[in-house]
Amino acid sequence: MTRAGEPKPPGSRPAERGPNLLGDLARAGLPRYLLMPGDPERVSLMARQWSKAREHPLPRGFRAATGQFNGVALASLASGMGAPSLELMLTEAVQAGAETIIRVGTTGSLHAHIENGHLIVNEAAVRLDGTTDFYARPEYPAAASYEVTLALVEACERLSVPYHVGIAATTSSFFVGQGRMASGFRGRGGADVVAEMREAGVLNFEMEGSALFVLARLLGVRAGMVTSVIGNRVSGEWADRGGTERACRVAAEAVTILAEWDRLKEASSARSYFPSLGRGPRVSEADERRTRG
Ligand code: URA
Repeated sequence: MTRAGEPKPPGSRPAERGPNLLGDLARAGLPRYLLMPGDPERVSLMARQWSKAREHPLPRGFRAATGQFNGVALASLASGMGAPSLELMLTEAVQAGAETIIRVGTTGSLHAHIENGHLIVNEAAVRLDGTTDFYARPEYPAAASYEVTLALVEACERLSVPYHVGIAATTSSFFVGQGRMASGFRGRGGADVVAEMREAGVLNFEMEGSALFVLARLLGVRAGMVTSVIGNRVSGEWADRGGTERACRVAAEAVTILAEWDRLKEASSARSYFPSLGRGPRVSEADERRTRG
């Protein structure tokens, strides 16, 4: 028996037949650590940062890569744009064996101090994605795994990259849904959504995070997200400034960190990672005797 939210054994996540976009890759099985960018080009960018990398072209312009980073086997799979596309790819990826998924996305910052090129580690997301309404009631949270979030923060610190931690808003619309004018039209709520999200402390807009967080919980796998700021909604600047490459590197580093934490957990039969795990006995014998009475 697994506890709610804990990874479930493969085979306990039945899904009806879909388009089978993974094809041979599904039959071969995916490694447990998977990076998911939206853009297929980012799959190739990631592969260039790894060793033993091999790219796998997939139908409909999707792309995957397998390889190693610091000796840990990992894969990258493009989710495409938006929650419905992510739903499809994530479901197939989990069926194929992925257990820890990190979205490596691009995003629009809602704040002047979160500049283009900075990274955002999103620990949760507002569910304006549409897709997850088919899975869970609106009150169900879209929250990342704390282990994956912590590993991403650790990776940002190790690599000394500028980063922020907080909540995203995931929308099923790029223009009106994120408060932009489209063909002279702002639509219902479009005029207010930027101010509303900013006042609620939301850091950024993107288009896949909440779907990943909700579906990962329901599928019993771990998920986290790092995004690089390519648009700033205060200054109006649209530029990458090296953030995408840094986000890919941070995600690979986070996999190294998670693999080490998973090894520590397995060695000590701990169900969850905590910062003092692996640093020797946690309670002195005297304390333990006192606790036991
Ligand atoms: N991705 C989004 O969804 N919005 C932006 O503003 C930039 C990237």
